[in-house]
This record gives sequence, C-alpha cells and structure tokens, in this order.
Amino acid sequence: MIEFFINGQPVQAEDHQTVMQAAKANGHFIPYFCWHPQLSVPGNCRICMVEVSNEGQSEGSGWLDIACNMPVSPGMRVLTDSQKVRLRRKETLQFITLNHPVDCGICDKAGECTLQDYHFEYNGSPSISRDAKVQSTKHFALSERIVLDNERCILCTRCVRFTHEVSKTHALGVQNRGDHSLIRPVEDGAFEHDPYSDNVIDICPVGALLSRPFLHKARVWYLKATPSVCPGCERGCSVNIWHRKSEWKLKALDAKQNARIDRVTPLENPAVNGPWICNKGRDLAMIFERARAEQPMQKGRPVDLPVALAGARALIQAARRPVALVSSWASNEELQTFHTTLAQRFDCFVKTDCQPGPGERIEDDLLIKPDKNPNRAGACRLFPALPDAAATAFPADTDLVLVWGEGFSFAQLPATAKIIYLNSWLQPENGHADVFLPISVMTERRGRYTNFQGVVSAFEACFEKQPGVLDAEAVFAALGDTP
Ligand code: SF4
Ligand code: SF4
Ligand code: FES
Repeated sequence: MIEFFINGQPVQAEDHQTVMQAAKANGHFIPYFCWHPQLSVPGNCRICMVEVSNEGQSEGSGWLDIACNMPVSPGMRVLTDSQKVRLRRKETLQFITLNHPVDCGICDKAGECTLQDYHFEYNGSPSISRDAKVQSTKHFALSERIVLDNERCILCTRCVRFTHEVSKTHALGVQNRGDHSLIRPVEDGAFEHDPYSDNVIDICPVGALLSRPFLHKARVWYLKATPSVCPGCERGCSVNIWHRKSEWKLKALDAKQNARIDRVTPLENPAVNGPWICNKGRDLAMIFERARAEQPMQKGRPVDLPVALAGARALIQAARRPVALVSSWASNEELQTFHTTLAQRFDCFVKTDCQPGPGERIEDDLLIKPDKNPNRAGACRLFPALPDAAATAFPADTDLVLVWGEGFSFAQLPATAKIIYLNSWLQPENGHADVFLPISVMTERRGRYTNFQGVVSAFEACFEKQPGVLDAEAVFAALGDTP
C-alpha cells in the first residue's frame, strides 16, 4: 500500500492505482469525461486536472496534471479543488463548449449530463469566443437504434473505445481532425450489428448519442427507475426499468402511457453483468407490452375468476394421472409456492418458455447466453427438466396437464387430456384450454431469479396488474388444498 495526501488528508492506495482511482475509492470527487473505470485511459478531455506537489514542496508551488493517468506515489500531495484547479477547469470547459450548442433545453441527456453539471459547477459563463460556432451534423443516423448529434460530441472517445475494448466490433472511429472531427461508424455495418451498441448511449457523458426509441419521449426527471432483472437469457442481467413517476402521470393522453416501459438501462452488478447489458435487454418493452390476456375462460368462454378457479379445482380433483409443465420464467417464490401447494398431485417437469428469436445472437463471450429463459436454474432445483422428446413425459393414461407459461405447443399434449393453462399473453392456445387463467408478468410483481451461475437477483414491481389477472402464487394458493 502507498500513503499519499488528498486535500491534506492521508489516503491509502494500491501500488498500481492512479490518483483518480484512489480518490474515488476514498470518497474524494474529481470530475471526468473521457475516463471510464472499464475502459483504457486516453487522457484527452483534461477536466480531471488536479494540483500536485511532492513532499516538502510549499503550498501553491505544485503543478497541474490529469488525475486519471497519474500513478500515485508515496507522500505526494494532491489538491482537487484549489483556486488553480478551478481556474483550469473553467478554461477547459470554455474550450470544450467553444463549438457546443448548449441546447440543453431540447436534449434528452438533460438531467443526467455531466457537461451540464460541471459547466454549472466550474464555469457558468457565456462563451468568450467571438467566432461563430462550427456547425456539424445534428441528426446523424449512427444505426437504426442510435442517433448522433455531432455538435454536442466532446470527442472523449468513450464510444469508440467501447467498441474496441468491450464489444470488440471495432465499429466506431474518429474521422477528420480538429474541430472537423466526427465520430463515424465503420462502413461494413458492424455497428448496426453490434448487440451491445446501446451501451454507448449510457457512457456518452453528453447528449451526443441518443436512443431512437426514447428520443424526445420524456424528461428523465419525470421517470422512476425500478430495479429489475432482464429475463432475456439465463445471464439475468441487473437492469433499471424506467417508467412514469406517479406524481408526473399524464392526464390528457392514453392511460397506457403511464404504465409503459420508457427505457431500460444497466444496473451495475459486478457479479453478473458489470455495467453493461445487451440490446435485447433494452427492448424489454417488446416482450412485456405484447397484447395481454386479462379474461379467465373455460373452453374459450369468458367466465368470472371464481368460476375458472372452481373449474380448475374440479379438474385437479378428478384427475388420476396429472402432469404439470412448470415455467422457466417463474420466480423462485412462485416455484416454491407451487412446490409446497400443488406439486405432490402432479408429475412435474420444467419446460422452455422462450426460444431464440429469428436472427438473435445465441451466445458470446461477454454476456449473452444460449438459454433464453431467466430462471431455468431456479426451476430445475425443484423439478426435473422436460425431456427433449416431450411426449415421453406424458404416461399413456395422462388425463390432465397444467401448462404454466407460454412456449409449449398444445399439439404435443395427449389428445384426451384436459388442460389447465396459466399464461399472460393473448394467444390462440388460451381458448383451447379447458380452464384458462391469466397471470401477471414480472413487471407487475416482485420476486427473484437464479441465474446460470447460481447468483440470485431480485426484481420489483413497476406497474399494477389489471382486474381479472392473478399472480401465479395466488392461483396456486387458491388451488392448493384441492384433495
Ligand atoms: S459521441 Fe459521446 S461518447 Fe462518443 S466521443 Fe462524442 S462525447 Fe464521447
Ligand atoms: S445478456 Fe441476457 S440477461 Fe443480459 S441484457 Fe442481454 S438478454 Fe438480458
Ligand atoms: S478524465 Fe482525465 S483527461 Fe479526461
């Protein structure tokens, strides 16, 4: 360990650490744009300037240097907020905003932009330049998912380094020089096909890289982030699901606007996904905002919930050889409830709810896993997996099958068996079941998933469920005492 001083206070640091790393680890604030803890250090933005002096040097005789690329050394003295430092940061911000449009009023990054924060803290003055700002492309289509505003780009190169060092597509670069420099994608379309491309939106420290689906949809201070887990594959990345705050509900528009997923961002979790997620995780609205099933049914006939539950009880009571296909999207809590209430009455198997979609990346070395079901590990701790030849799971005298969750074709079920079906989506199979019960989705309840490594992650409810829709746990509790 090395001891040195930040603002007069002794600080312990590892030998290999930089001043920035040691300062962060010890709770001292130093601003940064180009530095990112998971990327290489280019040292190009110069905002992290600190005043440094060696042991024995008098106060004020130190030199200015960047904290992100300066290794710690024993006894060194660092000032993070001296007069000299503040003046240099002001000059740096004047330089950075020389050609920047400062159009924060219409920028999606407003409220989350470090340029805005540092400008307020260290500069706050109008531009000293008498020249007209250099104009550049305002809406460059970087990909189908991302739009680039070159006027707001401060050329920190975080996005470029991300594609070189993390997603390894080498899909972005800098074209031209000086104030004509432009971030541009390589011509072979690699950025379009980078399954991690949207991470550059998060790491861009300004409003230069913007999500097209989220573009001008909401100011971020109207939104709330609910911690959740991406169900897109067995990695189970930690995410924040952003949705409208109740105090900022829209009154004049479609009520669904208040109960929709506005955006999904990574929730840093070193044990699972670090600070990244893949693009599928950003598109959870496409999974959860499909048409929902909200009406209990018996043989396709709408019935009240108590009638449907009574019908399911009667089927379970009458069954001699019932089989249950358990959802690999169910939470640990739901699986446990099923295990303690109903599982003894059934031969149980864990089924696959979701297969990879057309063109979807199956697997890679970063995050994406081949099983597109988030809780197979949790389910398989309690129940065996359904054999590949599904028919072998059904004895010849199977007279009832409880199917929990989507993704299983009824054509594979024994022709004469009755069917109880629990599903969340509006699908043709619903009407073919003897009893159909609509159940909630994970954004309407809390729970936990166990990922392929055995890491358990919790998710919270974002939205209320509709009348007529039950949590699977409530269904099992209601059916649990069926003799
Ligand atoms: S687009 Fe954003 S992340 Fe990329 S270089 Fe410009 S400011 Fe940095
Ligand atoms: S890697 Fe898997 S769990 Fe993570 S965001 Fe992508 S689909 Fe979701
Ligand atoms: S953060 Fe140190 S130079 Fe950019």
